[in-house]
Amino acid sequence: MCSIIAYKGYRDAAPLMVKALSRMEYRGYDSVGIATAHNSALIVKKGVGNVSYVNARLNLDSMQGNAGIGHTRWATHGAVNDNNAHPHVSCNGRIAVVHNGLVENHDELRFMLSKEGHVFKSETDSEVIAHLLESLPTTMDDMRHGYDSMDKAITDMLSMLNGSYSFVALTSNGMLLGARYHEPLIIGLGNPSRSKGGGDDDNNNDNNGDDDDDDYMLLVDECFIASDVLAFIEYTDKAIFLADGEVFVVRGITEACKPRLSIEIYNSRDGKAIVKEVTQIAWEFADVDKGRFAHYTLKEIHEQGHAISRAFFNADSKRLHLLVDALIDADRITITGSGSSYHAALMAKYLFSKICMLRCDAIVASEFTYNIDTYVGNGSPILFAVSQSGETADVLNAVRIARDNNFKKIASIVNSPLSTLARESDIFLSINAGPEVGVAATKSFTAQIALLYRISMEVARSKGINPPTLDIESSSINVEKMLEREAVISDLAESIKNANSIYIIAKGMHHVIALECALKLKELAYIHAEGIHAGELKHGPLALIDEKSIVIALNPMDDTYSDVITSVHEAKARGAYIIGVSDSKSSSSIYDFTLTIPRVDRLLYPLYEVIPLQLLAYHMALKRDCNPDYPRNIAKSVTVK
Ligand code: M6R
Repeated sequence: MCSIIAYKGYRDAAPLMVKALSRMEYRGYDSVGIATAHNSALIVKKGVGNVSYVNARLNLDSMQGNAGIGHTRWATHGAVNDNNAHPHVSCNGRIAVVHNGLVENHDELRFMLSKEGHVFKSETDSEVIAHLLESLPTTMDDMRHGYDSMDKAITDMLSMLNGSYSFVALTSNGMLLGARYHEPLIIGLGNPSRSKGGGDDDNNNDNNGDDDDDDYMLLVDECFIASDVLAFIEYTDKAIFLADGEVFVVRGITEACKPRLSIEIYNSRDGKAIVKEVTQIAWEFADVDKGRFAHYTLKEIHEQGHAISRAFFNADSKRLHLLVDALIDADRITITGSGSSYHAALMAKYLFSKICMLRCDAIVASEFTYNIDTYVGNGSPILFAVSQSGETADVLNAVRIARDNNFKKIASIVNSPLSTLARESDIFLSINAGPEVGVAATKSFTAQIALLYRISMEVARSKGINPPTLDIESSSINVEKMLEREAVISDLAESIKNANSIYIIAKGMHHVIALECALKLKELAYIHAEGIHAGELKHGPLALIDEKSIVIALNPMDDTYSDVITSVHEAKARGAYIIGVSDSKSSSSIYDFTLTIPRVDRLLYPLYEVIPLQLLAYHMALKRDCNPDYPRNIAKSVTVK
């Protein structure tokens, strides 16, 4: 989705924001824009393209000013063009706004504002926010600070916005104001301290008559406001995570000495000031360089050996046992997620039943609401959400629906322990995969599965079931073995790069990997691909198979092996080119090409099958001139429904 960065402090805002936007580019890359406040005026530059392209064209990073806002857009309302790029500016040119989310009643607001004389320059829903701020009875700059309640005009204005938003507005005088509702917004704090209390400081213009109780006001040397901590982690590891319905104001309180800025946070419903906890962010979030790799996606594919072991072995034991108890106590378990995380949820269904005899349903998060009656148990249902980002709107929506329907517990596994999903869950576990920047889920998917193995094994132990042996210790070696074949996989990608469709057939739990492989081929290489239950081939899809078809058969040596071979013969008889993914030497003569996987414990095959297929999708993307890190039309963190 879109990403937001804002800065106020003693540094040049623009270069810092350009860098931050590049780091968050996984969230959206249709267009880019920046506004800075300099000499009591706004400077705005924006255009279509990715960050480096727009920066090269418009010299964004040479814009002057110590306060600014920036944005990368992932279009929802309005075409991808320069006008629709953010920031959007009020008619008087004194307020610029960047927004992430969707103002659902924007048509109505646009109509009302147009009648009042406001002129709109874009087709976006976001622009209404700039005009609404301009039409406040007191100007933003004039709002006094140091009070224990927010100016009513702002709270009234926010109550007019329906939908989801996080936005930051910048005034020509360099003040920042923003709010969050169902979209993430985090404030990074440069050298924070709390105000000591009213009246004891010339810099504190507290005119409200009280001379105490205003320690809600944070003082900082500089502040960063962003959609993701990756944007500012190199400058500070201290942050405030805004909750839904919170609004903040950042102002300069003195130029003479540090601290220079005040940050006030209010509840937008009643306007009351809030004292927010300052969170210490783990520095490992800063590890977002491509290193020796050409793309983040490739780097993240290569990191999977370690990611798998970290997810399995580093699970927080206290949280793990809380989760295990909750799963055992539940009378109904529903697992949900979107995209690859939904595939991990589907895998959980297999693992829970095979390893620890827990029955559960898996459902795509965006479908949960339509099937809620099925999932409400007899008093103790649990919703178990799987998400890399923890910010996926469909998943958060499912969580909120489960809460409204009195689910006993919400549990989740996430890659971002500071995410909204983690915060809204009764119990969450981190998959510990480290930042995943490539839009395609790779290491987060295998890490999710590794953690699901661990959870299943712990449930089994708690239930007195002997868990199977799973040799996770060898995961790094096994992953390495497959990565060594990258050159061969690249050649394979070259030979099939012009395929129109690829069919991936599999049985049992391997079908989940077939679905995941199809998703990777679609999003990375823009090839139509389908994951098919091997047994279903003869019930219809076989009609599509001819000598131009490519069929990938997931065929490890387990109980699915001979049935898959039968389907392979059916496809081969129609002339299809067959790629076998197997550890069996005897079947290699049936395939036109074999992707060898290691012989491992049967339940572990899915973990290793997916890796050569991720590499295949990555190399197909390169051969077809697609940028694997930033596939067209999609964003990493899908924060709109
Ligand atoms: O952050 P999440 O795991 O909740 O994201 C869910 C999906 O948007 C995500 O898995 C998406 O399908 C990936 N691009 C797949 O590679």
